[in-house]
Amino acid sequence: MQTRVLTGITTTGTPHLGNYVGAIRPAIAASRRPEVDAFFFMADYHALIKSDDPARIERSRLEIAATWLAAGLDPNRVTFYRQSDIPEIPELTWFLTCVTAKGLLNRAHAYKASVDKNTEAGEDQDAGVTAGLYMYPVLMAADILAFNAQQVPVGRDQIQHIEMARDIAQRFNHIYGHEFFVLPEVVIEEQVATLPGLDGRKMSKSYDNTIPLFAGGAKQLRETIMRIVTDSRMPGEAKDPDSSSLFTIFHAFASETESHAFRRALEEGIGWGEAKQVLYERLEADIAPMRERYEELIARPADIEDILREGARKARAIASPKIAELRAAIGLRAMSSANLPAGGTRQATKAARPPRFASFRDTDGSFRFRLFSSEGDELLLSKSFKDPKEAGAVQKRLKVLGGAAATVHSLPRSLVLELDGEPVATAPDYTDEIERDEALSYLRAALDLLAVQEKSE
Ligand code: ADP
Ligand code: TRP
Repeated sequence: MQTRVLTGITTTGTPHLGNYVGAIRPAIAASRRPEVDAFFFMADYHALIKSDDPARIERSRLEIAATWLAAGLDPNRVTFYRQSDIPEIPELTWFLTCVTAKGLLNRAHAYKASVDKNTEAGEDQDAGVTAGLYMYPVLMAADILAFNAQQVPVGRDQIQHIEMARDIAQRFNHIYGHEFFVLPEVVIEEQVATLPGLDGRKMSKSYDNTIPLFAGGAKQLRETIMRIVTDSRMPGEAKDPDSSSLFTIFHAFASETESHAFRRALEEGIGWGEAKQVLYERLEADIAPMRERYEELIARPADIEDILREGARKARAIASPKIAELRAAIGLRAMSSANLPAGGTRQATKAARPPRFASFRDTDGSFRFRLFSSEGDELLLSKSFKDPKEAGAVQKRLKVLGGAAATVHSLPRSLVLELDGEPVATAPDYTDEIERDEALSYLRAALDLLAVQEKSE
């Protein structure tokens, strides 16, 4: 069973060493684990909350995409996309907005910090606060819930947002009477180092103390490292590695053996200038090959665009049927399929007919079944079972599964339903992805109807 791990990267600014060590490197390492189904995206709608400078937004999206790819993200493994390429996200944001308590958003740290600042300055409490900042947590909940993400790795400052996403999901599930959304869990990487910046405080673009990862090339990397603040000990005087930013940064890149040697050198009185050169050379050894890829990528923005569009296609194949299911659940249905009150139209009586299973014996003697929708369309054909009891047991489980809980993989033109990680049934071939995605929403709706029916029997 794979775990869906999803995280967003706000596209403001240029990636620095802290971002690399604290976010990019561990996320890419996690995405390589076979049990992880990773979704990484650029939160460019969130970036609009922080910046209204179009050139900066554009530049940052490109730099961040190129950085992740250069650092080893494999777009064939990871679903890698831009938030703004997924129209289902803002649509879901609205559905969630309508069930979110305003009071919940009043308590969000980022909004509260702005209010506190205004209050202190004697200003109106909402001065300069956009509705975008206020709604930030709902947009973030939609990012997560649209994909049924199970785990969300983030920095500590984001924990509250994941808790809010859970709250909002629970409220929606409760109001509409079904487990539409998986409740996401926050993942905090405990062993990841927090890198200090040039002045010894946490490296952060808000403190203007960062060491850029790629920007400015090797020259800039070296120059910035030379600006790291140290104490005034002279060459020959022993230095304390544990209170030295140089050592902390070195350690985040080097092996234990290398770190041990560097520790010794500091304790034995290496001069700060020389120590900075050692640090630079160690970082450059890791960074140079990535920087080379980065520069190649940045020079071909059209290729990055293609990669992101392909990522968006994969992401939408999941979000679009999800939204179709939600639209149906909240009453935004096609009028032709209206679930009118008793005595209504012919369609109403037709729609009230439950989905049904039809079992049959295949030419090779094995046992199989089909699932048909209320309208009589074939939704699934099961695999072959040697034992009819096995086929019956699978049908029984499908009857109580419900649409949201079903694990369905999208193939380019078909769908595969899994139980316990094993494929048990496939959908017929569709002409294109749109038809397939529609079929998926019908399939989920049919599974919901079956589950409701089972409960009422
Ligand atoms: P910044 O503080 O520069 O604005 P962000 O808040 O955009 O950085 O952080 C993006 C990601 O990088 C987050 O996951 C955060 O935890 C990580 N990160 C940022 N700064 C550091 C740091 N100094 N050390 C380790 N990780 C960091
Ligand atoms: N708000 C997050 C940050 O600034 C970025 C983000 C947006 C995100 N949507 C997300 C992170 C969804 C995880 C899941 O770091």
